[in-house]
Amino acid sequence: MQQDGSAPAMTMSERADALEEHMMHELEHIVTKSVLCNLVDGKVEMEGGNDLLARNPGKFMLMGADPRLPRMPEKPTLIDYFRCRFASTSHLLQSATHALKAGHPEKVVLAGLLHDIGVVSFIRCDHGYWGAQMIEPYVDEEVSWAVKMHQALRFFPDESVGYGYPEMYVKLFGPEYRPEPYIVADYERARKHKWYMTSRLITLNDIYSFDPSAKVNLDDFVDIIGRNFRQPKEGLGLDSSPSAHMWRTMMWPTRFL
Ligand SMILES: [Fe+2]
Ligand SMILES: [Fe+2]
Repeated sequence: MQQDGSAPAMTMSERADALEEHMMHELEHIVTKSVLCNLVDGKVEMEGGNDLLARNPGKFMLMGADPRLPRMPEKPTLIDYFRCRFASTSHLLQSATHALKAGHPEKVVLAGLLHDIGVVSFIRCDHGYWGAQMIEPYVDEEVSWAVKMHQALRFFPDESVGYGYPEMYVKLFGPEYRPEPYIVADYERARKHKWYMTSRLITLNDIYSFDPSAKVNLDDFVDIIGRNFRQPKEGLGLDSSPSAHMWRTMMWPTRFL
């Protein structure tokens, strides 16, 4: 209580926490945040199941779909993830459109379409590596390799194809930024690899794909996806591939276990 008898004003973050707590109570099940979500908020914390049950009498933990998120079909496809889980798709579609217009092979178009799915659906840090791992069981090895390596190649110019160090990176990271040694090492490995140019083309199409007014459409790529992405019959994420759990996590990000 303040001296005048009123309750002390809440800070912005206390208000946000209170609102979140209120929203959780509105739900039928207990929705929990994974440690990773707390880490990105700058907190090394987790709440145990018993504490959560005590704070939410009469409720059980959420063990399925989060009702706050768009509903996914029973057997989701890559297209469903584009529509229901990817936070932004314009940059991906613009990259793929550039590849298509330049007459690049379908593999390069698909690689452009998927190159940043790590960022738009999962996590920014090491997005090329995450994205490659997610798609690896379902695409040609060359496509996932190119997606993985584009992250490193973005930092290194190749004048032979007209790719310079991105001005956007100077703006984003400052003029003094230098990539980590593992990125430099992967760049050097990629430079000598037989699929170097597939990954390099991703970076080339990448730099022209940040136009907020570009008109792009996922429908233009449905056939290319159909021919080049092996959609599992059980649904993407409900199959037994080595990365199925990553898709499931995107589908059910707040499942307790
Ligand atoms: Fe990227
Ligand atoms: Fe990109």
